[in-house]
Amino acid sequence: MANKKISIGLFGFGVVGQGLYDVLNHSQGLSASINTICVKDRNKKRKIDLFYFTYEKNDILNRKDIDVVVELIDNAQDALEIVTTAMKNGINVVTANKKMLADNFELLFKLQQENGVSLIYEGAVGGSIPIIRNLEEYYDNELLSSIRGLLNGSCNYILTCMELNNMSFADALAKAQQNGFAETDAWLDVAGFDTLNKLCLLTAHAFGVILKPEQVLTLGIQNISDDDILYARAKGLRIKLLATARKVGEKLHVFAMPHFVSKDSEFYNALYENNAIEVEGAFSDKQYFVGKGAGSYPTGSAVLSDISALTYKYRYGYRKLKKVKSQLGENLNAVHLLDNSINQKVYIRYKDKAELNGIEILEIDESYESKKINYLVATVSLKSLFHLKESRSQTVFVCAVS
Ligand code: HSE
Repeated sequence: MANKKISIGLFGFGVVGQGLYDVLNHSQGLSASINTICVKDRNKKRKIDLFYFTYEKNDILNRKDIDVVVELIDNAQDALEIVTTAMKNGINVVTANKKMLADNFELLFKLQQENGVSLIYEGAVGGSIPIIRNLEEYYDNELLSSIRGLLNGSCNYILTCMELNNMSFADALAKAQQNGFAETDAWLDVAGFDTLNKLCLLTAHAFGVILKPEQVLTLGIQNISDDDILYARAKGLRIKLLATARKVGEKLHVFAMPHFVSKDSEFYNALYENNAIEVEGAFSDKQYFVGKGAGSYPTGSAVLSDISALTYKYRYGYRKLKKVKSQLGENLNAVHLLDNSINQKVYIRYKDKAELNGIEILEIDESYESKKINYLVATVSLKSLFHLKESRSQTVFVCAVS
């Protein structure tokens, strides 16, 4: 396919779709053009000629002259239908839909093998940061020991605005939305689910282990208050929502939650919509990737890079995944490799003591109650924090210490 002009069928013309359109128009080395764009809303004003648009997905999916389907819509269920149909029709697909990918990883992996097609998704994790292809190609061995990341641009933007610009949570979130960083349902960002989906993708590519989002502990920043920011500031710390996948022996510790980070941490200076990812190897030590993690052009450029990769027939080799699968055998689920029975020191800020029910507290380091703020610093069992994820707690804020 080298040198042939790639014809793109694009689904979605929102923040990322428009970003791709502009980035593609400025790209000189790539011989590709958008043939047709499928969108839902007939009444929305479009910034390019309506001639490009269709409202019927089969106008793209049944076409023989489309080389690549680029899926950039919001709804994960509709996206799955588009992507699986395209793959079954033998068309290569580029997507940035992390929720669809994380929810259906096993199926999508299988469809790639069965249909001999490529599904690539660099834009799904870390915005402009090229992490997935690096995990696949460069870190293609068993020496990776951990990957940690600040993976949600909106949360980092909100935290930075609260910490550095004294903005309220609501104002900072509104600004993240105006800038096109947040998901349409911003709950996915602030409650940590977008970070979780990205973490599942990283775990698959870093360690070859497919985990389902519901198996992994995630806590978000939705309940953070100015008091938590003041607490961190008084100790010279910042709060960052960090995702971790760490290999310990044969097992993996995987979770995402807010963390206090100190000035010595590379995450401390990753600000606003930037993402940062730390990859640690047994011999290479720590390496960092930092860059814009959300927004129209950064994500559009990651999508463009995937389209370009398809011109030289790129596909993920999933070598680690295939190896783990063959070691596990057909009957053993990868969840057996996940170890949630770990303890973690955390700061827990609460309103009413009853909110702590269900949290297994092993050792208390600090306990403070006043009219203004109640908190504990304690070692707790990670497993016992799951109910905060499941109950969508609206009050308790938990932040990992060290
Ligand atoms: N809502 C996501 C974020 C977009 O804020 O990081 C990029 O994946």
